Amino acid sequence: MSDRADPASSAPPAPPAPPAPPAPAGPVAPPPAGTPDEYSWLVGFEGDWRDTWWNRDFLDLVARRLDLARVRTAVDVGSGAGHWGRTLLPLLHPDATLVGIDREAAFVAQATAQAQARGLADRLSYRQALAETLPLPDASADLVTCQTVLIHVADPRHVLGEMRRILRPGGLLLAAEPNNFAEKAASLVTAPGLSREGRLALLTLEATCQDGKKALGRGDSSVGERLPTLFRDVGLQDIRACQSDKCALLLPPYDAPEQREELRQMLSWIDGGIWLGAGGTRDATHELYLAGGGDPAAFEALWALARREASAWREAALSRTLSGARGVTFYLISGRAP
Ligand SMILES: C[S@@+](CC[C@H](N)C(=O)[O-])C[C@H]1O[C@@H](n2cnc3c(N)ncnc32)[C@H](O)[C@@H]1O
Repeated sequence: MSDRADPASSAPPAPPAPPAPPAPAGPVAPPPAGTPDEYSWLVGFEGDWRDTWWNRDFLDLVARRLDLARVRTAVDVGSGAGHWGRTLLPLLHPDATLVGIDREAAFVAQATAQAQARGLADRLSYRQALAETLPLPDASADLVTCQTVLIHVADPRHVLGEMRRILRPGGLLLAAEPNNFAEKAASLVTAPGLSREGRLALLTLEATCQDGKKALGRGDSSVGERLPTLFRDVGLQDIRACQSDKCALLLPPYDAPEQREELRQMLSWIDGGIWLGAGGTRDATHELYLAGGGDPAAFEALWALARREASAWREAALSRTLSGARGVTFYLISGRAP
């Protein structure tokens, strides 16, 4: 599982106890709920890990370029706990309303509760439904959008066609989706203690697991790369592509709260037995690897290498030597209905 591809639906198990490093100087906010005491220095970030994905001034620029202030009716497909819709709402027309659609009832309830808690229940509402069959009329929305959802669907072209169906003429389709293969390659450049052969082996594991995920109908983790073509295929016009200008920078001693939040998220995956790649746990990775046509006899050695990478990463993070710009390939693709 790679950074921008995290499935909100699969929370990793609680991590075991690592050694406690000294606390950073200066005032800090309390740790997020569920943060183990041993990671109590990884504090100070107010918000959700996903809030680290976007710079506000960059989103303001995107809003100006795409005229988001004119949007009065928006639909967030695969809305999860509502993060993306809440991020976009301040950029839309002051009277805009947004409907979130998600297949999981638990996420619909979570997003609804969040909207209520923030006094936004009159503007944000959520419904349980499938992206493949949106329960909304043709030509009814000014904006249809999604974030890290098309990477999870079997047929992104079909879902994009459905999203386009509900767009008014001139309406905007906006997708925020990653290329996780590129992101894995970027993270391997600074992976501690890996030879060139090791880096290439882990890239092979990544590519094989991504192929397996596609073969099993669970989505393409690098679909962001294909979206301009798919947007054109479903008849969208004025297609534009840009990237989030955010890197997941890590620079010791990680003074910025969002760097500590990034570390907290990565460490919780590592301690949960999850590889920082496309697979997840050992068994999930094994399943994807075989489905992707990987050599069964080679898997255990690759998995051991993946876990060694994760352990070295964890050790470097806790000793505060891990460092890197850690490029993230997270695209914003847009197009308009004719
Ligand atoms: C990685 S989460 C992203 C959630 C949210 N967009 C965000 O950025 O915070 C993917 C979401 O898509 C939903 N999802 C995946 N496939 C779906 C489908 N076919 N129809 C509706 N929702 C789907 C999942 O339930 C999950 O909430």
